[in-house]
Amino acid sequence: MNGFEGWAFAVSSERKPMRLWGGRFEGGPADALTRLSVSVHFDWRLVPYDLMASRAHARVLNRAGLLTNDELGRMLAAIDDLEAACKTGDFRPTIADEDVHTALERGLLERLGSLGGKLRAGRSRNDQIATDLRLYLRDHVRTIVSRVVELETALMSQAEEHADTAAPGMTHLQHAQPVSFGHQLLAHVHPLTRDIDRLRDWDKRAAVSPLGSGALAGSSLPLDPIAVAAELGFDSAAPNSMDAVSDRDFAAEFLFDAAMIGIHLSRLGEEIVLWASQEFRWIEMDDAYSTGSSIMPQKKNPDVAELARGKSGRLIGALMTMLTTLKGLPLTYNRDLQEDKEPVFDAVDTLNLVLPAVAGLVSTMRVNKSRLESSAPDGFALATDLAELLVRKGVAFRDAHEAVGHLVVWCQVNDKDLGDLTDEELLKVSPHFTPDVRDVLSVPGALAARKAHGGTAPDRVRDQLATLRELVDAQAAWATGA
Ligand code: ARG
Repeated sequence: MNGFEGWAFAVSSERKPMRLWGGRFEGGPADALTRLSVSVHFDWRLVPYDLMASRAHARVLNRAGLLTNDELGRMLAAIDDLEAACKTGDFRPTIADEDVHTALERGLLERLGSLGGKLRAGRSRNDQIATDLRLYLRDHVRTIVSRVVELETALMSQAEEHADTAAPGMTHLQHAQPVSFGHQLLAHVHPLTRDIDRLRDWDKRAAVSPLGSGALAGSSLPLDPIAVAAELGFDSAAPNSMDAVSDRDFAAEFLFDAAMIGIHLSRLGEEIVLWASQEFRWIEMDDAYSTGSSIMPQKKNPDVAELARGKSGRLIGALMTMLTTLKGLPLTYNRDLQEDKEPVFDAVDTLNLVLPAVAGLVSTMRVNKSRLESSAPDGFALATDLAELLVRKGVAFRDAHEAVGHLVVWCQVNDKDLGDLTDEELLKVSPHFTPDVRDVLSVPGALAARKAHGGTAPDRVRDQLATLRELVDAQAAWATGA
């Protein structure tokens, strides 16, 4: 966050509209056009990035002999002063400014007189806005990654504590086989590690500078796009000015990555809603991360988890908005592209809101270990272990499956559990069920037996956790540039 988010726009202005394109126009713009066209109420958050690019551009103009050393010094001082005034709110845009570039040029003109008008040489709002949005996103993606890391860390701490806690593992939301609850929690960490991988990979493609492309064709002035790119922390300068001003792949790709995070949060959110329900009672949410009802005094609601689930819809919507805006656009810049910013900003804001809340919910929830362990074998969840034991004794799996199936039906009819059966009852169902089969009817035994790579055996869960911790440390370091 850079302090320019959530800025409230003052609509009325006594001032004559400030336009960067008034020269060939006789009358002023219609009110309806001004209102349609204005973007400063949402692109104002690009101020720090626009000014960063302006500093680099001023230096390149100086090296090209288009600004004297004295002019460069005054220009950089005015940019610093303007940035400070933007931060304190002493300088504010109005609807008359159209967009962030226009407002900031006014700020420079107010400080420098006609010298302020020199900075526009060799650049256009088309290459500026493409540059600003890349700078903004590369910065904010690092914050988002840090917040995903916080959630990964919260899940891993709970997983560490519950590596040995048996839980009902489900398919089709039906009891299937017992699992380590830690294994299940880590199953929510892996998707998040992939999300971060995707963002890191995204960053390589986003690290290309459009500045120097001008409106679409580059500049006849002796600028140095490669030097400017390096100064702004990009890896390279765009090799094609026409592509550079019209490309928003980086925005669409970011929005896909954000939507995928949203989907992962929604799946975790859905599980937490279930776990917190009276029917499951697997976890109890901390008071700080649950809400009450205005009418039912006893209620404790999982609103954080539900909002995580609900907000995924707007992240997916942002991606659709972007793709739809881009579809069929001719080269190069078209004003449609102004629609790229709100979905991007909304996705960034949404993730910055949701991630800390979900991390807090997960790190403070109390796991009901005894409830999990007592329900782990429910629903004949050890039936597969029994069938696999018969296989180890030489029975064909097909026959073993059928015999255990009969045993389950017998138990259901007689209202018994697999572990309650006497020797005679077992043998009555099938001669394969000698008394020793009872040895595999233990939940800890069933967990420990799944000890191959990727399995739910608590020892494997601890190995998995150690590997994940290393990966997550590297992800955290990437985000902070450490
Ligand atoms: N505000 C515009 C945008 O967000 C940038 C200005 C380019 N406008 C133009 N008429 N060439 O895309």
